[in-house]
Amino acid sequence: MSKNTVNKVTKKIVCGNWKMNPLSLKEAEKLLIEISKSFSLIKKTEIIICPPFIYLEPLRRLLKAKSYKLKPNLGAQDSFWGDKGAYTGEISVEMLYNIGARYVILGHSERRALGENNNDINKKIKASISAGLRPILCVGESIRDENHEYLNFIKMQIEECLNGISKDSISKVIIAYEPIWAIGKGSYPATPEEFREMNIFIRKILNDKFGAKMIGKIRIIYGGSADEKNTEGFIKDGEADGFLLGRASLDAKKFSKIVEICETLDK
Ligand code: PGA
Repeated sequence: MSKNTVNKVTKKIVCGNWKMNPLSLKEAEKLLIEISKSFSLIKKTEIIICPPFIYLEPLRRLLKAKSYKLKPNLGAQDSFWGDKGAYTGEISVEMLYNIGARYVILGHSERRALGENNNDINKKIKASISAGLRPILCVGESIRDENHEYLNFIKMQIEECLNGISKDSISKVIIAYEPIWAIGKGSYPATPEEFREMNIFIRKILNDKFGAKMIGKIRIIYGGSADEKNTEGFIKDGEADGFLLGRASLDAKKFSKIVEICETLDK
């Protein structure tokens, strides 16, 4: 596939997944302020911050009160598929929408490790789209075997998670390819070439499922030890539409640098 046929969407995405950090609202506010202050002329990048649920509302208020030129969008790290009722401990997509979240990370490998399956994620994706949230669907294998079984694994994740999603809705879904072996401390990132191959593979699956017309509208981003040093390679050689950042999103300087690189580089 030639370079220009892989991606058609122009705006890149930089999404920070703060996971279960930081420990206090005060620190969360400080981090968001540091991040927000560093942006001025960002035109080609969509910035999303996904803090823990309990910080969403106060952070939304904080952003509302400030006159930053550019305010990051807020997103959640998970949601539930039911709309309301007897679901102790769960948070619905509509609740998230009502407090100002516009994105939701779904199917992160750390949630899958706690028991979430493709069917649960599928229900959550459908619920989030109906509520007006844009899902960021995470897929990724735990190992790369010589027989390339991991490709079937990714295919199954995508097909099952996107089962029943209409052609009209698919452009709302952002796909984050995050190989599990690349996530977290002590791991190493995929290479831009590995990502590029996966990018093409995922687009082929989406093409078969939703048709060629939709492919250019779907963004595929990279996650797993992404940082300010490998950003350029993933965009130029991997043709990534952006990043899902864990650790790098907890460091305002690194996060802003990554946004800056995304902003200045054309794929
Ligand atoms: P990492 O996490 O950037 O810290 O490797 C990525 C993720 O889990 O989304």
